[in-house]
Parts: sequence; C-alpha cells; structure tokens
Amino acid sequence: MCGIVGYIGGKDALPILIEGLKHLEYRGYDSAGVAILGETLSVVKTQGRIADLEKKLKGKTFKGSVGIGHTRWATHGAPNDKNAHPHYSESKNIVVVHNGIIENYLELKKMLIKEGHTFRSETDTEVIAYLIESFYEGDLLKAVSKAVNMLEGSFALGVMSKDEKNRFVAVRKDSPLVVGIGKGENFIASDIPAVLPYTKDVIILENGDIAEVKRDGVNLFDLKLNPIKRNVQKITWSVDDAKKGGFKHFMLKEIFEEPHVIREAMRGRVNGDEIEIPELESDILKGINRVYFVACGTAYHAGVVGKYLAEKFLKIPAEAEVASEFRYRDPLVDKNTLLFVISQSGETADTLAALRLGKKKGAKTIGIVNVVGSSVSRETDRVVYINAGPEIAVASTKAYVAQVEVIALTILYLAKLLNKLSPEEEKRFANEFKLLPEKAEEILKQSDRIAEFAYTTKNIEETFYIGRNLDYALSLEGALKLKEISYVHAEGYPAGELKHGPLALVTPKSLIIAIDTYAPLREKTLSNIKEVKARGGKVLAIASEGYEKIKEVADKVFFVPQTLNELSPVISVIPLQLIAYYIAESRGLDIDKPRNLAKSVTVE
Ligand code: AGP
Ligand code: GLU
Repeated sequence: MCGIVGYIGGKDALPILIEGLKHLEYRGYDSAGVAILGETLSVVKTQGRIADLEKKLKGKTFKGSVGIGHTRWATHGAPNDKNAHPHYSESKNIVVVHNGIIENYLELKKMLIKEGHTFRSETDTEVIAYLIESFYEGDLLKAVSKAVNMLEGSFALGVMSKDEKNRFVAVRKDSPLVVGIGKGENFIASDIPAVLPYTKDVIILENGDIAEVKRDGVNLFDLKLNPIKRNVQKITWSVDDAKKGGFKHFMLKEIFEEPHVIREAMRGRVNGDEIEIPELESDILKGINRVYFVACGTAYHAGVVGKYLAEKFLKIPAEAEVASEFRYRDPLVDKNTLLFVISQSGETADTLAALRLGKKKGAKTIGIVNVVGSSVSRETDRVVYINAGPEIAVASTKAYVAQVEVIALTILYLAKLLNKLSPEEEKRFANEFKLLPEKAEEILKQSDRIAEFAYTTKNIEETFYIGRNLDYALSLEGALKLKEISYVHAEGYPAGELKHGPLALVTPKSLIIAIDTYAPLREKTLSNIKEVKARGGKVLAIASEGYEKIKEVADKVFFVPQTLNELSPVISVIPLQLIAYYIAESRGLDIDKPRNLAKSVTVE
C-alpha cells in the first residue's frame, strides 16, 4: 500500500511532490523517491522515510514543473535503494511509480528478459516501465494503455516520458487514485490529503480509468482509450480528517479496509478453481510429522485457527502456542517439525526468539508476515506475505483478517500437495474465497446497528466471549480487542467449558457474546447460550444467516453471511472488532493508542 503523487503546472514540482508524499507517509515508509522533468530528467530515491529523501536532496536544485513521487510499502523485494520507486526503463525514457501488486510480473519479466532487458530491482513494478517502453512510439498515452491491458493485479500508476514535457499519465485498477484539479496545474495522488493543500476539487478515478494530466486540463479515458467523464467533487474535510479517510480513528479505517485486504491477500493465490501458494516448494511437507503455530496476541489467535485447520486438512498433529511460553519450554521440535511463525510487524521479540529456537532445533519455518523485509521475514525459510498494507492502530484488525485468510489458503494448498484435498473441494473453497470480500462489505453495512448496540452496552464491567471450534478461536480475539481498547475485562472461553467454573460469575449484570457460526456445533453452543440465559445473563449472538432459531434464545443477534465453516473467521471477526471499537468510542478513549501498549513489542 504505497503512496503515489504527481504534479504538472507552472511551479517547481519538487516541493509540491515532497509535501504530498508527507501526507501519504501513513501508507508506507520503506523508501521514497521522486522523478522531476525539466530540461533533463532526474530521479532521486532512497531507502527510508521522506525525511531521508529530503536529506539526500539537500543542497541540490532540480528545476522542472512536471514530476511524480512515491513512498513505498514493499510487497515485492526488500525495502532498499534499488527497489525504491520511481522505476525506469533502461533508456530512462519511461519512469513509473506504482501502488499495488502485479500478479503476472514473473511471466512478463521472463518475456522482457528474453527481449533483452536487464532488471535492476526485485520489484514487480519494474516490468511496467519496460513494457510501456516496448510499446512507446512517441505517444505515452497509447503506450500506457497497451501496457496496462497486459497487467493482471492491482495498480495505481503515475507514468512520465522524458520526451513528453507537457503531460503525464495516470491509471487506476483496484488501488486508489485521485486527480486534483487546479488552475494551470493538476495533481494526482493515492489519497485526497496529498492534494488538499493545493485544491479542494478532485476527481476520484474508477477502476480502468486512464488520465492524461496536462497543465491546462485533465482528459479521462477507459482502457481502450475511449473518452469518458467523471464528476469533480468538492472536498469539505480538513487535511487531518482526510488522513484517516474521513474516519474518526485509524482502527475504524482499517476495519473498513478489510474487504480490500481480503481481495489483496488472495491475489495470485486463488486462480480460477485452484489454490496455490507460489512461495512454497512442493516438497515442503516431506517428512513433517508435527506442526506448530507460534505468535503473540492477535497473531497467536490467528495461529489457533491454523491449529484447527491443520489438524483437519493435513491430519498432522498441530499446536498453537504463545511465543513467550514456547521459547522457554523444551518444545518437541526437530527436523520433522513445521513451524509457522505469525507476525504483523515481523519484529516482536518473543516471536523472533521462538523462531530462532525452532530453527536451532532443526524445524522448517514458514513466516506469515505483513511487513516486507522485517526480521521474521528474513529469518524464516519461506515467507508468505499477507499484504494487508500498513496497520497503524495499535489494535490489530485488518492484519488478523489477512492472517487467517492466508493461513487457510496455505493449509488448503499443503493439503492439496498431500493429496488430501480433492479437486472438487479445492474448487468449492476457491470459489468461496472469491465471495468473501462482498460478504465482508455486507457486514460493514450493519456497522450502525453494531454501534447502536455498543452505545447501549458501554457501561458493562465484564464480558465473556464464548464459542466452539473456530468460533472459540474467534472468541479469544473478540475478547482481546475489547480488553485492549475499551479497558473492559473480557475473557474468551470455550462455550462447553463455561459450566466448569465461570458460570458462577454469570448474573443479570453479565454480558455474554456468543459466536455461533460453526454449523456442525451450533446446536451445542445454543444449549450453552440457554445455560447463560437460565442464570439471567444477557446474550448477544453472532450467528450465520439462516439460523433463525437463535433469535428465540439470545437477546440480540447479528447475522453474518453464510460461508464455508472453515472460512468463517475471516469475516465473522468483523462484528467483534466493531463492537470493541464502538464500546471504546462511546467511552471516549484513545482508541488508536491504548494505554500501556505499543504497536510493535520489540522487548521481552
Ligand atoms: C493486537 O491487537 C495487539 N496489539 C497485539 O496483541 C499484537 O497482535 C502482538 O503484539 C503481536 O504483534 P505482531 O503481529 O506484530 O507480532
Ligand atoms: N509492488 C510494489 C512494490 O513492492 C508496490 C507496493 C505497494 O503498493 O504496496 O514496490
């Protein structure tokens, strides 16, 4: 999830690009770079933040009133100088900044290498520059349209040609891009805040839109270069509001990004009726007789989902374990062990220590990681990135969704390698994955109802979250979310275990959140709900659509769309995240930075 900007007008482009990038730094800060077109074309880029780029630019002047810029959140290739954008063709005629993922870049790269191109970076982006160059016959717009028709995946692009000083071209497919309309000058940016200091008039590009951006106007086309029209909108928010996309907190913004995140996490992994994890070699399970998932906090809860799925589909003994415990036990790990290490940041100290211990004992390791180039991603044998984009709120939401999705995809793929997943089952799962983004949207449409419930519940002092099987894994995550941002004591419990102790705590003042989406056990959980009701407790149930019966038992029900049982956690966690968010919000708390916590825990 990088940030891109572009400018053309009568002023020097450089300060405008830098200012724009600063507003987009929340989208990633692995590297930054700019390309300025004046008498000559200059490209300056560096690993690190925009401040590092400014240091590199200090004392130098770059005259030019056209330019594009980038702040990177790496998906393909480590965060270093050579992978930093802009990328350019060998002749430097074509310069590109890109936000997104090119799914078919390996095929294109092979083709372009055959044609004689030499690649300088490990990114997927570099193919775009060469591809445009290969179509360039003096008309950038035409060359871009031909090239993007060959790209699969998601992209927002800013493209300049050294030979065309009076325009640049922008394209959008599945990654956001806006055009800022000024007087005698125009802009592009990944997000509105970057253009707001200069203009309040913006066009929000739609998928498949190509923009020809000139000093005196902007022309829009579809992918076949037929002219199209889009409305110009007046932005009424302030820059600060806009950074959070109009949301009050990053946490809420990140929850609302989940449909997009779900789509990105399966990119290149669900192809037609097939599931594939290209990062894993086909003999990765050779000799494996034990599987561990180690992680902390929310990532550990994703690991609990992994344990259930691994047992079910791989039929290999599997355990999920908190990294801080694992590292100080003498776990039964050897060369026949497969260790999944799950971490959003890839820098959590306990998780890293558990990984190192596992490696010392000879385990094979797979990282399920968000941050490219992080320590976990460097130290695991294989890494499967979740591609959730930067997560800013301390409470992890979209990373959990992407973690459970990628874990499910990985386990299903490994089951396929073991011949334990039939082609029919694979097809059923592949097709259901594709429906998840829409189902997530449907849940988000109910957010007002969830907020209303949360506001009437804000004074609770204690909650139990209960569920069975994967719903139990979800109950752990629901409880953690509520604890960490609303400071309400909450516990996730196996629904069947309540009567072995905690039921003693249930009184008419208690709120129990029952998750009942796992169809094979839903009647069992329903009985546990009845046990709570019999002691006067209030029950909010999260259940799958169609299970009407639950309405007669629970005080309130939120229905989530039906999906395959094993995929339910990907979407059923959303109402739990929203409940925690709105309870914390109604209590007026510092949601994005809860007390005593940090985003990345790099100490023991
Ligand atoms: C989640 O909301 C927490 N803030 C925390 O539990 C977090 O998941 C944990 O610290 C692990 O972080 P990681 O995924 O970056 O390793
Ligand atoms: N895939 C590109 C890269 O790794 C862009 C990344 C993004 O937009 O997140 O550099």
